Amino acid sequence: MPHDELSRLVREDSVHKRVYTDPAIFELEMERIYGQAWIYVGHESQVKAPGDYDTTRIGDQDVIMVRAADGSVKVLYNRCAHKGAKLVAEGSGCVGKFFRCPYHAWTYQLDGTHLSAPLRSGFEGTCYDPTHPDFSMRALARVESYRGFVFASQSAQGIDLRTFLGGVVSSIDNLCDRSPVGEVEVAGGSFRVLQQSNWKVFYENLSDTMHARVTHESSFTAAREQSREIGEMPFELLIMDGNGEPYAFWEKLELRAYHHGHGYMEGIFDPGAATRDPVAAEHFANLSAAHGEDRARAILGMNRHNTIIYGSGSPHTVYQQFRVIRPLTVDRTMIEIQLFRCKDAPAAVFDRALTYANLINSPSSNVMPDDVELYRRCQEGNGTRGGDWVSLHRYLGTDRALDDGWVSTNGTSELPMRNQFAAWKAYMLAPGTEARHAA
Ligand SMILES: [Fe+2]
Repeated sequence: MPHDELSRLVREDSVHKRVYTDPAIFELEMERIYGQAWIYVGHESQVKAPGDYDTTRIGDQDVIMVRAADGSVKVLYNRCAHKGAKLVAEGSGCVGKFFRCPYHAWTYQLDGTHLSAPLRSGFEGTCYDPTHPDFSMRALARVESYRGFVFASQSAQGIDLRTFLGGVVSSIDNLCDRSPVGEVEVAGGSFRVLQQSNWKVFYENLSDTMHARVTHESSFTAAREQSREIGEMPFELLIMDGNGEPYAFWEKLELRAYHHGHGYMEGIFDPGAATRDPVAAEHFANLSAAHGEDRARAILGMNRHNTIIYGSGSPHTVYQQFRVIRPLTVDRTMIEIQLFRCKDAPAAVFDRALTYANLINSPSSNVMPDDVELYRRCQEGNGTRGGDWVSLHRYLGTDRALDDGWVSTNGTSELPMRNQFAAWKAYMLAPGTEARHAA
């Protein structure tokens, strides 16, 4: 697809619906975004001991995150060098000391290096060379981790992970800092939600403050009715009630937009968060014992809502989860929700994260299915001949430029979506991509 044709799909104030519906564009995204960017693979705690592995996808590629014999974390394509079979089935486990293909028993060390093929004598006089990389599992070009969060890039070129993440590292920091030892670990399995929509819609919705009190009317209304009935507002109802805040509340939030499509939504610093209820107070005491009260208040008072790591998903600092976004096809997206335990923090902190995930994000939630239904409607509506453009006009021209990105002057601005599509366009039109595809 010529660059000028792609370029015309993204305007300053709108995008053409083809970016959500055209399978050829999805294919280009897999190559130009998922083939280039740093993408979240998983957390180091998922592969604690040598041989532990977890499978996932980077764009359209099946990959394995594995703990190697030297303790490092490797990310390998899930393919045997012999006939191409996937070496491990989807999921997690431990392969032991080496990978062994279930088809013809070719084996590989945990870093992917070829170990052996049965009956070596059969290769005499051939080009089979166990030391040649063609006979090993192939590793992704680059792997880096930040505070235990492992990212990989399929491209050998480009900026390092820390530079790529920019200002959103503060969300990963705050998530980890909620543990008195500064470490989190994946706990339990993950929720999976199959969305009948293009992957980009989910990112747009993460900081779409204008939808909350409309899309989630049924759940926040039910929470309020229930609260009136029982005469209190427990945590379970409080987290559903939040979506019913008036527009004036959302207007006061700050929307930060960083390079590469990242960003977050944040309320003003909330020192009272440290002592709001018994769970918070216990957590505050726990963090204060490790770092002193000022630092503990600074950590718990950070009032951050959804964070966007474009291409990877959304870590949530306050309720310790990572919603991982995996594009499957142009109109199918898998969301995997990982939960984290803050090491050495009170058990009630993890219980609360679990409650939040169950009630707000799980497949049985009262809240998230509202969004999923709307994503599907967007996908289907954009499949009709009823119009071509998707509006991103809100507060265009008022966003304030910063050294490392942008900030909105109003929390209902569509700045995050405009920023995501600016990044999308930069990936899709990157120098050299047109020629490479033509070749
Ligand atoms: Fe929503």
